[in-house]
Amino acid sequence: MLNVNHCIPALSAAACVLGLVGCASLTSPSASGRISQKPFGATKDGIPVEVFTLRNANGVEARICNYGGIVLSLQVPDRNGRFGDVVLGYDTLAEYEKESPYFGCLVGRYGNRIAKGKFKLNGQEYSLAINDKPNTLHGGIKGFDKVVWKARPFTSDLGPALELRYLSKDGEEGYPGNLDVKAVYTLTADNSLRLDYTATTDKDTVLNLTHHSYFNLAGRGDILNHVVYLNADRFTPVDSTLIPTGELRPVKGTPFDFNTPTAIGARINQDDEQLKFGKGYDHNWVINKPMKQLGLMARVTEPTTGRVLEVLSTEPGLQFYSGNFLDGKLKGKGGWVYQFRNAFCMEPQHYPDSPNQPNFPSVALKPGQTYQNTIIYRFSAQ
Ligand code: GLA
Repeated sequence: MLNVNHCIPALSAAACVLGLVGCASLTSPSASGRISQKPFGATKDGIPVEVFTLRNANGVEARICNYGGIVLSLQVPDRNGRFGDVVLGYDTLAEYEKESPYFGCLVGRYGNRIAKGKFKLNGQEYSLAINDKPNTLHGGIKGFDKVVWKARPFTSDLGPALELRYLSKDGEEGYPGNLDVKAVYTLTADNSLRLDYTATTDKDTVLNLTHHSYFNLAGRGDILNHVVYLNADRFTPVDSTLIPTGELRPVKGTPFDFNTPTAIGARINQDDEQLKFGKGYDHNWVINKPMKQLGLMARVTEPTTGRVLEVLSTEPGLQFYSGNFLDGKLKGKGGWVYQFRNAFCMEPQHYPDSPNQPNFPSVALKPGQTYQNTIIYRFSAQ
């Protein structure tokens, strides 16, 4: 493994890691990105953590650590070519370990909520930790956001990449099956941060992996002027604990209709029961596209900088969360105190509580099957 802060030209990283070639001599015209690596300290338990910097030819840069697979920073240009960091987070590993509302992390085994922390599979009931009363949220007490993943920087035809691997043991956080999970982040030439998940199990289980970056395309302030388009005619309304009722409700005529691009703040404070339950937007939209097909879910534009974020995925649903639990108690990178609605998350996933909802697409994974999920965050400016 690399253990010093040095750079690797894209397409030669794997060879460099193996010590087969001289790093300096290899570059590729098709994907001229770079990866570098340096220590990010150690966890409370003494496990060393590394930070990997992926950079493409346009200067777009993603810093990712192998604790939780957290995207620590993401530098993208505005309409004048000025680079800025568009994700929230902390400067140090200790702060992430102390308290994080899932800043930038990989989420599993089950992203989002499972009602009352219980589900049945093949007639057997499983009990999970209640970490978001009265439900389980984002994988439980020690989800995939809080474990150290085995990291391997490499390059693909698409650009500099980081493979993260984690073996979640049978019974971990209450879920059945030894689960072998691979998450590959790639920074592509078209300014996309791409995440490809695959996973296999040795027992029937349930799985719902996603990513939890908090975006602010202006780099500061609240996100109420960001304009959102969502490719969805329906959403899954929730009860007061944010568990879906099972209905797929048309968005037409409601504050949940983003088929016409609309500012997040335009309707967020309307007198609407669903908005009250979520303290704003914190819901799953049913994306208009065939199952498993990679397609556009959302497009967010920020008028002052011109930055645009497009979200694509193979998943059937998208949780759009408008940062309603940020309340000024967390101080992040560079001393920015994160206030109410200072960021939004776009989490491609299966619908919340799917293991208990027979009418939702299945989240079951069986031995012999390979789980696959691609999530793309594509940046541009206008
Ligand atoms: C998800 C949930 C929200 C909240 C955040 C983390 O987006 O849907 O309700 O729990 O994660 O704070």
